[in-house]
Amino acid sequence: MKNQILNQKKEYLDQLIELLKIPSISADPKYDHAIKKTAHWIERSLNEIGCDHVKIFETAGHPVVYAEKIINKNAPTVLVYGHYDVQPPDPLELWKSPPFEPVIKETPLHPNGAIFARGACDDKGQMFMHIKAVELLIKNNALNCNVKFVIEGEEEIGSDNLEQFITDHKNKLKSDIIIISDTGIHSMDKPAITTGLRGLSYMEVTLTGPNRDLHSGLYGGTVGNPINILCEMIASLHDEDKKVNIPGFYDKVIEISEAERQKMNINATPEKEFQKSIAINASVGEKGYTTLERKSIRPTLDVNGIWGGYTGEGAKTVIPSKAHAKISMRLVPNQNWEEISELFNNYFRSIAPEGVDVQVKTHHGGDAYITPDGSKAYKAAEMAYQEVFGVIPHAKRDGGSIPIVPMFEKILGCKTILMGFGLDSDAIHSPNEHYGLDNFFKGIETISIFYKHFSKLEIT
Ligand code: BES
Ligand code: MN
Ligand code: MN
Repeated sequence: MKNQILNQKKEYLDQLIELLKIPSISADPKYDHAIKKTAHWIERSLNEIGCDHVKIFETAGHPVVYAEKIINKNAPTVLVYGHYDVQPPDPLELWKSPPFEPVIKETPLHPNGAIFARGACDDKGQMFMHIKAVELLIKNNALNCNVKFVIEGEEEIGSDNLEQFITDHKNKLKSDIIIISDTGIHSMDKPAITTGLRGLSYMEVTLTGPNRDLHSGLYGGTVGNPINILCEMIASLHDEDKKVNIPGFYDKVIEISEAERQKMNINATPEKEFQKSIAINASVGEKGYTTLERKSIRPTLDVNGIWGGYTGEGAKTVIPSKAHAKISMRLVPNQNWEEISELFNNYFRSIAPEGVDVQVKTHHGGDAYITPDGSKAYKAAEMAYQEVFGVIPHAKRDGGSIPIVPMFEKILGCKTILMGFGLDSDAIHSPNEHYGLDNFFKGIETISIFYKHFSKLEIT
């Protein structure tokens, strides 16, 4: 099958380029037509590879594309999940080539080329590998599992409507394992399988002081300035050990054993290398934990954006009426995102001084997820990576979130194996996002081998 992949490189890339050209930005209603077009593109693609019952399901938000290939009622069933929506490409001026005009260029980490476009890695490129892997298996008459595809268009905005879809189609989606490529590996020499994701709780706060912007000379010194106050309130959300200062925030966090921590840190990136990769001269985070632990097994709180007052050219002397911030918290297993949102909401309002009104809004969220590294499905994935990359992949917990993964477990009772192939340096959500061609082709190969092993192993 490897030779077939090599022979069809150009065809695969031409198809991926076509997919990457459609600006399926889920957050911006201006792009709804592009979302629809992408759903149709995937529908066609799934039909072309020989899937059955390919259908676009409308939801209260963006559509879900479903397809299946049932070969035998007694064979194990694999559900493939991916997302066709992408993050907004802003800031546009930092892109070296336009985000929806894919180009292939070499980089130091991708000497055989990488494809640059929004969604190249997250997640169109990674999702498309699954379509190609299943195509290969069907063509070679080597598909030994039933396959179901669920490809959605709202992952980047919280998958709000997918839960309903899964609930409505619970029986249709029944599977033995879910596989997703929407995470990453350490490097081409050190592949990894993700066994954990963090949860997320995303809030927005607004402080209102005086009923209009005021002349800062006439009023300065007499009123609470909402921006000054917001900064003080935000600063108080961490203590000097960089622990989150919200009462109850850590109550449900399960401490990980010393042995497990030691084991995970074996695969950590050297501290200096980490700092160099993002041009900082010191790492900062919760006291008592390593960088790797801080970004995977510990909960955090970060301001994603803050605004208010005058931010245009030059100077304007003004005390603003309002100040805003978007604040997110990454969560770990056993923390409940709705509970944490509520804790934040109550605490943040409680620390507001007199003279300002505080509004807190919950945007979206999801719980954390962990999957064991000893299951049959994990073993099948492990063997597949080993065959393609030449080394045994290590298990790692990631800091990012895919809210639907714990939902799949809750509603379908089905575990997920996170078979990602991206690199941290692929700049997902950033300007110049890219995905290595080797990662793409090796991903297709690894996925096709996963099916081979999974069909042979008894299911747990
Ligand atoms: N694919 C990412 C999540 C990810 C990336 C997990 C790399 C692990 C490693 C996904 O598309 C994403 O960006 N998720 C969002 C959450 C969503 C609700 C906006 C995130 O993690 O911020
Ligand atoms: Mn993604
Ligand atoms: Mn993403």
